[in-house]
Amino acid sequence: MADKDAVQESKDYYVDIPMKSEPFALRGSNSLEWGMKNRLSNIFNPKTNRTVMLAVDHGYFLGPTSGLERIDISIVPLLEYADTLMCTRGILRSTIPPTFNKGVVLRASGGPSILKELSNEEIAVDMEDAIRLNVAAVAVQVFIGGEYETKSIHNMTRLVDAGNRFGVPVLGVTAVGKDMARDAKYMRLATRICAELGASYVKTYYVNEGFDTVTAACPVPIVIAGGKKMSELDALTMASNAVGQGAAGVDMGRNIFQSDAPEAMIQAVRSVVHADMTPERAHDLYQTLKNEKK
Ligand code: 5RP
Repeated sequence: MADKDAVQESKDYYVDIPMKSEPFALRGSNSLEWGMKNRLSNIFNPKTNRTVMLAVDHGYFLGPTSGLERIDISIVPLLEYADTLMCTRGILRSTIPPTFNKGVVLRASGGPSILKELSNEEIAVDMEDAIRLNVAAVAVQVFIGGEYETKSIHNMTRLVDAGNRFGVPVLGVTAVGKDMARDAKYMRLATRICAELGASYVKTYYVNEGFDTVTAACPVPIVIAGGKKMSELDALTMASNAVGQGAAGVDMGRNIFQSDAPEAMIQAVRSVVHADMTPERAHDLYQTLKNEKK
């Protein structure tokens, strides 16, 4: 209990200095509630308003895909370099050390395996459990143009309503079907629908032509998925182009954990996302770190 005697007289009121009230700089997020902003700050580095999310949630429909067979061995050593981890609650509880104190984005939709119609998802996590796990956001797949388009959007809007009750942001993940054009027109449509219907931020794919129109038309931050494994230089170039054209970072999986040197790769990705390093210099960094590890 505070000591009643020996109380210092308070005097530092700075009456001539107006109280600081800084706007929250993350795109489209200034009017959100404090808790929501606080959680978003655990995803997006407040210094850069960008993020390197490490995506390892693929098992929710793919099972033990290449690079994720043993998350304890392949992914846990990468956690120190990620701003945020995207995973399922099963992996979080079983394998991720609870001492991991950065943002967790929890996969909150699922249902069909790779053997079935993927757009036929349901909400797979109750908001109460997401809060129990102290996550920074929940993620839901949205299949614009897919067979179960409306259902997947309804999954998202229900999570947005639940998230708004408790200050939990929702990441809308745009899933592009095999037979759909991966172009800026489609990405503008899909990302804008997610934002209009309440997603706090949106994940999409980078497109070579007109990606800047995708980020311009989306009023909340966009992060890009890495997609299929490509060369390290190509992946770094894609990340660099994306942030240069308005993306707020990456949610990258296979191009990190399927790399020959995942620890080197995630550090190279960080240097592109947070320090605007050129892809060539970041690739040199990748090679140096890879050789040091040998
Ligand atoms: C799976 C996902 C992945 O998190 C997403 O695709 C990012 O991973 P990658 O960089 O490997 O594409 O949402 O549905």
